[in-house]
Amino acid sequence: MDTIYMDNACTSFPKPPSVAAAVCDFIANYGVNINRGSYGPAYEMENVVYQTRVALSRLFGYSDCKNVIFTANITTSLNMVLKGLLRPGDHVLVSSMEHNAVMRPLVQLTGDGVSFDRIPCTKQGELCLKDAEALVRPNTKAVIMTHASNVCGTVMPLTEVGDFCRRHGLTFIVDSAQTAGVLPIHMEDMHIDALCFTGHKGLLGPQGIGGFIVTDELAARIQPLISGGTGSLSHSEDVPDFLPDKFEAGTMNLPGIIGLHASLNYLLEEGITTIYEKEMALTRRFLDGLSTIPDLLVAGKQDTEQRVAVVSVSSSSKDNAQIAFELENQYGILTRVGLHCAPWAHKTLTTFPTGTVRFSFSHYNTEDEVDKAIAALHAICE
Ligand code: ALA
Repeated sequence: MDTIYMDNACTSFPKPPSVAAAVCDFIANYGVNINRGSYGPAYEMENVVYQTRVALSRLFGYSDCKNVIFTANITTSLNMVLKGLLRPGDHVLVSSMEHNAVMRPLVQLTGDGVSFDRIPCTKQGELCLKDAEALVRPNTKAVIMTHASNVCGTVMPLTEVGDFCRRHGLTFIVDSAQTAGVLPIHMEDMHIDALCFTGHKGLLGPQGIGGFIVTDELAARIQPLISGGTGSLSHSEDVPDFLPDKFEAGTMNLPGIIGLHASLNYLLEEGITTIYEKEMALTRRFLDGLSTIPDLLVAGKQDTEQRVAVVSVSSSSKDNAQIAFELENQYGILTRVGLHCAPWAHKTLTTFPTGTVRFSFSHYNTEDEVDKAIAALHAICE
């Protein structure tokens, strides 16, 4: 039985073939570290890392590539920004659709005297921004928000939230886990102070590489969580205060960065708008097919406006885990079932605590695969 992968919100698969080729070439033929060795291959790799920073800063609308910081993943990035920035007495706002990559660090910080409020969202996962005005306090420091829900795909209005932050003098921190490489993001136009991203989802790179882009003003207020050797200022035991070194201690994930460099080249050649349109066509076809299965309820929005290619369903008569199990075992269709590390998103969508079966598409999926998924759901749910 062939496998049909529909869990791209978790990690994208397949990757462009150039990604594996670049990672293999690096491991087989280079294998050097950077910022340490003063020999040719190290300089060559430093240049690839630099080009990757340039590509990311251009993709995300930030004018200076030194502000691109590499980390292991977006969870690390969010931890570094939140724990490095927030102090006892600070208050922040989040949406009611956040993933635990935002919520767990924040809840941990409440133990140190940080507090938060959730801006409500509708049952479609849409932000009620007008309700945020009443939540701002004198000690409110920041808004931290996902760009799109990993449960139902609803997109948040970043431009409006950025304007809101500017009006209230708040720092704006964005979790782009589901949108980097999928939707246009322009940090400067959207007034984003820190954009956290991961390389292995919409950016189509390998796992283990992510990062954040941070303004100079905000970087100066963030204490580094990790410190150590950077290959710079080696005479000193102080953490460098310049970017990216302030936040990049230790040997970097060079295979990951080199894979990401290859996937960024692919994305720029294909065009993220072309890729997004293909994903939306598949999502529309899937939603149309679901409307013919009365037993299945779609969580959140029913259309493809302001959405990414994530669709969650729950059954009114059958256990969701049983559906996911049968999808894999009888049809080879791989989905993610449960609460997707986002309990409050499910509370907002009224799918807590039973959760949903989540389908998430990439442009590598086909219409035929979507039709097979609909046929399988008909057979399982009727
Ligand atoms: N956040 C990822 C997901 O939604 C892991 O599956």
